Amino acid sequence: MEYPAFASLIMHGGIITEYNDDVKGFLQFYKKLGMLPGHIADNVLPDKNQIASKNYNVLQSYVRKLAQVQDQANRILIISSNAKYQIKVEDAQTYVPPVPVEIVVTSPPYPSMADYVTSQRLDYYWMGYTTDDVNRFKKEEIGARYLRHNSQKNDLYLKNIKLCFNNIIAQLKDDGLLVLVLPEYKDTDSRRKVIAEFYDFLSTLMDLQYTTPRNVDENNRWAPFKSLKKETLSIWSKR
Ligand SMILES: C[S@@+](CC[C@H](N)C(=O)[O-])C[C@H]1O[C@@H](n2cnc3c(N)ncnc32)[C@H](O)[C@@H]1O
Repeated sequence: MEYPAFASLIMHGGIITEYNDDVKGFLQFYKKLGMLPGHIADNVLPDKNQIASKNYNVLQSYVRKLAQVQDQANRILIISSNAKYQIKVEDAQTYVPPVPVEIVVTSPPYPSMADYVTSQRLDYYWMGYTTDDVNRFKKEEIGARYLRHNSQKNDLYLKNIKLCFNNIIAQLKDDGLLVLVLPEYKDTDSRRKVIAEFYDFLSTLMDLQYTTPRNVDENNRWAPFKSLKKETLSIWSKR
């Protein structure tokens, strides 16, 4: 991706989150712009009172964000003047890093939690992808919420996530590290078993070095996932 497109993308996200107490605000923002509302999950409905209580000024926001992006870009350039980076849009189930890597830091998709491709489709269009591309990305999306009524969803999730991590671990250097953030579901939630099975799978290839729970901040932008109160951060080394 070229830098201007990347900067636009950051701003797009930045402006949305500025008006966003939670993802309900995210929907309202699109509505205010006269666009189809984006949604991170289909149980998140627009809240009329929230939009009425806000004073939107999109242009002002855009200018403010532009200054922030410029400032952040300058800082990144100073810190990493010798660093090379690439941004790729790939299906993690088939993508294999071309060279061995030292560390992978990721929060992989959670089972039946969100429809990321649908919610972020405007970003994809912004980057020049077509509706056909977006529909393909939807099919490749792991843990998509729209699959939640599919009786095979948990098996499918495990199959897909294992494909990704087989590729990732195969390309980790011998002393490489994997840093993960995963959800911690209640005992009564069937997804607890899914995550436990994923950890079991990881344990066959990696050694757990560190783990710590963290509370999900109700005020952050993932607030619609109100059912999710905790996540776990874990660090694994290659066996
Ligand atoms: C829990 S979010 C984490 C996002 C990001 N890693 C972070 O930590 O902020 C999971 C991400 O996985 C992406 N995803 C889902 N299926 C994927 C696939 N098959 N290939 C690549 N990314 C995928 C989703 O679009 C979403 O952005």
